[in-house]
Amino acid sequence: MFVDLRDRSGLVQIVGDQKLGELRTEDVIALEGTVKARPAKLVNSKLPTGEVEVEAGKVTILSRAADLPFEVTSDGLQIKEDLRLKYRYLDLRRPRLAANLKKRHQMVSFIRRWLDERGFWEVETPILTKATPEGARDFLVPSRLQPGQFYALPQSPQQYKQLLMVAGVEKYFQIARCFRDEDPRADRAYGEFTQLDLELSFTDQAEILSLTEQLFTSLVEQVLGKKILQKPFPKFTYQEAVKQFGDDKFDLRDQKQRQDPDLLAFAWVVDFPLFEKTETRQLRPSHHPFTAPKDEDLPLLDQDPVKVRSWQHDLVCNGHEIAGGSLRITDPQVQHKIFEILGHTQQEIQQKFGHLLEAFRYGVPPHGGIAFGIDRALAVFLGEPSLREVMAFPLNASGQTAVMDAPSPADAAQLKELAINVRK
Ligand code: AMO
Repeated sequence: MFVDLRDRSGLVQIVGDQKLGELRTEDVIALEGTVKARPAKLVNSKLPTGEVEVEAGKVTILSRAADLPFEVTSDGLQIKEDLRLKYRYLDLRRPRLAANLKKRHQMVSFIRRWLDERGFWEVETPILTKATPEGARDFLVPSRLQPGQFYALPQSPQQYKQLLMVAGVEKYFQIARCFRDEDPRADRAYGEFTQLDLELSFTDQAEILSLTEQLFTSLVEQVLGKKILQKPFPKFTYQEAVKQFGDDKFDLRDQKQRQDPDLLAFAWVVDFPLFEKTETRQLRPSHHPFTAPKDEDLPLLDQDPVKVRSWQHDLVCNGHEIAGGSLRITDPQVQHKIFEILGHTQQEIQQKFGHLLEAFRYGVPPHGGIAFGIDRALAVFLGEPSLREVMAFPLNASGQTAVMDAPSPADAAQLKELAINVRK
């Protein structure tokens, strides 16, 4: 009898007598046996272990497997995603997903080593915090100790990383979890996702772009085995990008190049407008309110704010925005003025951002940085159809957690303790 034995490193064929017949698909076993060369006519050149087989000695069944809700040997893309997420621990047995988890691990450990070698410190910033605006809705967490008050989960570590620059950390990074309550898309996770977040003091845009470019080049070539269409990465102003491609997220590959799954086309976009108009013709930041205006455009802040260009920089790859960042405002007066232009009252400015304006009064080095979406970038690099394919336990499109049943009702005692009445 023949049995395929799988662990996370791959498959090997077992040969043995009828005792193998007791095994059912996905049973967990321990096996002692002898590795032997396969007879020439049974060699399977498609399998890395295709030249050998294991002659079974002692077989112990450690755990029996019930019938699975779906098979775990194909790529799984034909199976309904909600079902895959409900049984994600089985879905992750799929070799494609196991390989994605491994690549993600290799990517993150490479980044940590690379930045450590260049003097960056990894610092953790709070998850229970105050709102940090990145343009999405916040997730709120009720406080028990201060009934009626709420924490917000961070949309990014933006303000804390700037405070770390005030603290003198100089070079910071974090593999940071971000929380945004916004509508999901194929390249946008609902709820939470992970950024590589970076910040440097005494820097300029050229240094940030060059550092990121070196990191990405080494990462995709050495760790992921991909090719880069153009090096150094071409750079477009926002206006050039919109004129040439009709969008600031564009794909530099031609039709033929798009057939090559290992080819990545990176490009920088700079000189974004600082503000954009909302439907109600108010202004909102095109990035976030901490991005610095270009010095030569400062006089336009009063006269014609929509014409002001900023120090924002985005990195696009194969038609997706995979990273974004900027040089920051460090002049409390300019920061204050930007908040005013965005329509905040004096009271709101104090309440929402007073801590930052105060911190800037005590000496703040010029600083800037960037953040890239680990999930989004890896999905683009691997050519996966959705970023959920590179996340272990993503939320589904309706905001339901994988495997565990959340969100779910809280019991009455818990709500009482939090001073919360739920309206039906
Ligand atoms: P920004 O909001 O542009 O900038 O985010 C940076 C990068 O994070 C990724 N990203 C996402 N990935 C998955 N799902 C999402 N919902 C999602 N939203 C964003 C993208 C994006 O390019 N604090 C600033 C960075 C800075 O200024 O340094 C920030 O968060 O890849």
